[in-house]
Amino acid sequence: PDAGSPISSFFNGSGTKRLPQAIIIGVKKGGTRALLEFLRVHPDVRAVGAEPHFFDRNYERGLAWYRIALKEEENELSDDDLACGAFVLGRSRAQHLSQLSLFFRALGWMLLTVYDHAMIPGARTVTWYSSGPILTTVELVWYMQPWPRELMPRTLEGQITMEKTPSYFVTKEAPARISSMSKGTKLIVVVRDPVTRAISDYTQTLSKKPDIPTFESLTFKNRTTGLIDTSWSAIQIGIYAKHLENWLLYFPIGQILFVSGERLISDPAGELGRVQDFLGLKRIITDKHFYFNKTKGFPCLKKAEGSSKPHCLGKTKGRTHPDIDQEVVQRLRDFYRPFNMKFYQMTGQDFGWD
Ligand code: A3P
Repeated sequence: PDAGSPISSFFNGSGTKRLPQAIIIGVKKGGTRALLEFLRVHPDVRAVGAEPHFFDRNYERGLAWYRIALKEEENELSDDDLACGAFVLGRSRAQHLSQLSLFFRALGWMLLTVYDHAMIPGARTVTWYSSGPILTTVELVWYMQPWPRELMPRTLEGQITMEKTPSYFVTKEAPARISSMSKGTKLIVVVRDPVTRAISDYTQTLSKKPDIPTFESLTFKNRTTGLIDTSWSAIQIGIYAKHLENWLLYFPIGQILFVSGERLISDPAGELGRVQDFLGLKRIITDKHFYFNKTKGFPCLKKAEGSSKPHCLGKTKGRTHPDIDQEVVQRLRDFYRPFNMKFYQMTGQDFGWD
């Protein structure tokens, strides 16, 4: 249909898909989903729900894809995808996966993964019967939230397009690639005590692969000499100073905002204030938007974007961590201290991890 005709606006919705002017580039387990969910409350922010992974995994598809593509494939899904999607469970999980995937697609939903019932207590359970040859009885458990199939959202004049993909922060090529899209891109990094971050990262992996070795044994190359395995990604990601150096080759420090993951929990409105200033937005998100949910143990939104209901993040956010040997924790604190100091120096901010 002709651009601008009523029929084209019916097909296209209103507004234009733009490349992001601001990106949350990291860090994994820092609190990136919380920040994006909170920012979406702002009327001048439109954000991609999923993690596009453009500057790491999909770069060869080109900027046009990044701007207008539909997210077609349920390739490697992160926890965040899960938090927004539908949960499915069945007795023979693997068998049902592709059938269920098609079923969900037909409904305009994306099938994300098959989960154990035990992992989602309290979720709504629906039993669904199918006469097909493979599907028999499957219980569907879902989080009712429509899945955004499109990457970039449409924005009106003056609205900011945002996305978050926490792996960008540790992707060698990402700074050059983002800078070549636009040198003016504003970058946001949510950082968190690297030791807690490592444990959180491990907890996430453990929830998917319960058979992995203990945190303590993965931490060391050699437990007796105490040599830390810096090649283990859970540890590697927390060496913030090293990763940041990479970004500073392409972006001035003033173009990167460092959000404290700890303060995002203890004072979400305060951190959101800094973020809104950085993005040049009116301070609309304030302490009036948050309440502390005692059951969740975290701040939640009084009203989520596009809804009048209170909203906490999903079950995969704010997990209980396993107990880790205090000696190992201490050893990691010692390991990170010089890198943390360097990071404080580079950013001019003391995050208080030591
Ligand atoms: P844990 O699950 O280890 O507690 P990310 O979204 O980058 O993966 O970060 C996940 C972390 O966000 C959680 O780690 C949690 O501590 C933190 N977080 C910050 N604010 C939160 C909130 N309001 N609700 C839930 N989790 C929050």
